[in-house]
Amino acid sequence: MDKSYRAVMSRKNEIMKSSVGIDYSEFERDGIVFDYEELMTKTAPDISEVAEIQKEAGVGCTPLVELKNISRLVRSHAKKGHGAHIFVKDEAASLSGSFKDRRASLSMYVAKDRGFDGVIAATSGNYGAAVASQAARRGLKCIVLQETFDSRGMGQPEILEKGRACESYGAEVIQLSVGPELFYYLLRLLEETGFFNASLYTPYGIAGVETLGTEIVNQCREQLGRDPDHVVVTHAGGGNLTGTSRGLKKAGADKCKIIAASVELTGLHMASDTDFNKKSFTTGHTGFGVPFAVAPDRSDVPRNAARPLRYMDKYVLVTQGEVFFATEILARLEGMQRGPAGNTSLAAAIALARELPEDEVMVVQETEYTGAGKAPSAQLTFAKNQGIEVMRGDPRKLDSPGERIVIPQDFSQFSYKEIPMNRLRTSYLKRLLTEGKESFTDQEMQFLSEELHTDSWTIKRIIEEESRNG
Ligand SMILES: Cc1ncc(COP(=O)(O)O)c(C=O)c1O
Repeated sequence: MDKSYRAVMSRKNEIMKSSVGIDYSEFERDGIVFDYEELMTKTAPDISEVAEIQKEAGVGCTPLVELKNISRLVRSHAKKGHGAHIFVKDEAASLSGSFKDRRASLSMYVAKDRGFDGVIAATSGNYGAAVASQAARRGLKCIVLQETFDSRGMGQPEILEKGRACESYGAEVIQLSVGPELFYYLLRLLEETGFFNASLYTPYGIAGVETLGTEIVNQCREQLGRDPDHVVVTHAGGGNLTGTSRGLKKAGADKCKIIAASVELTGLHMASDTDFNKKSFTTGHTGFGVPFAVAPDRSDVPRNAARPLRYMDKYVLVTQGEVFFATEILARLEGMQRGPAGNTSLAAAIALARELPEDEVMVVQETEYTGAGKAPSAQLTFAKNQGIEVMRGDPRKLDSPGERIVIPQDFSQFSYKEIPMNRLRTSYLKRLLTEGKESFTDQEMQFLSEELHTDSWTIKRIIEEESRNG
């Protein structure tokens, strides 16, 4: 078989179909419309079955912990009667140390059930470790493809550490330098091995996270006798937000606001060899968070089951320095050494909770295990070696991604920057307009309302404005 780049890419659809076992064309409707709910319900098991599968796989049922000392500190920096109670869902207690076990557990169940010998995951993150861990439990072979190095052969401490974690579970880890060849290698390996594609973006990868949302609601009801008012989610590819939100809704927490939080890395290009090692966070940042929100289908499957704009009520950004500070505060005040990714939403929660009434409940929906390569000391030393200045001060005034990391001098300097939801909706629609779409049928407008979590009047107004601006 022809293994050239062009030939392999041209076989993309067939390779995906046999390695994921989903015929996405079944869910396509007229124009831009596809039946998202049908894709989810027809392909993935029902949520109670997912919970059973996860229980058997040692995944889920993690504690919901009140951050009493942090909440008290927030209240002492808030105006009278303000400062919401912050709770955290301790996902680090899961088998491989993050919520990614939820996604992997369902994919591995499906892979085993369908008789695959092994699985492949293309990820540099916690998902690799989760897949490797779940594959080990089910006796499946596992290959993890990692974008690890820049062209100098230099690797981020966190990514290198994750590679070692995957190897420790018995996975074969293939490390590549940054660039577009990752997808080509993924397709080639899938074709050569006949393994299951444990993509993050299949319905299994999302349905697995729904239990995180239902557990939060059930635990809030049991522990506090009420639903959470706000759930803050560290956002990158969108699976975390989509799955959690769907779970919250399935448990009936309809009034709960869903807030996405990412680390602000504006100006750094994710596919750039020179920018690759200038970021201290490998996920939960704007380099993934924004493009995956406005163009979800640019993933490794034909239709991404992670569709964060459908659920997001607010999108806030925090700086790298604030997340490092939140990491230290969580360890020193609550005795929880965790992170980094989960602490992105914690940093945002600290700033957001200050503005909210003191009887409200805000849940940070994850922590992640930490280790030598993930610790702030490793990241900050690496950043300094890349020529990045590290200083104390006011991040909102001095932060400059890729040039300067500014760690707050005191607790009152936690803040956030909001990306207006309509700006994200506009980017989503602009993409359709530049692809040549000129008018939308009633079904397409209905689909867009669901996709963009807004009414058709707002959508029409944005389209008119964009058409006028050319
Ligand atoms: C611990 C942790 N939290 C949050 C995220 C973000 O999840 P998503 O990419 O589904 O938005 C990741 C993804 O890499 C992660 O590993």
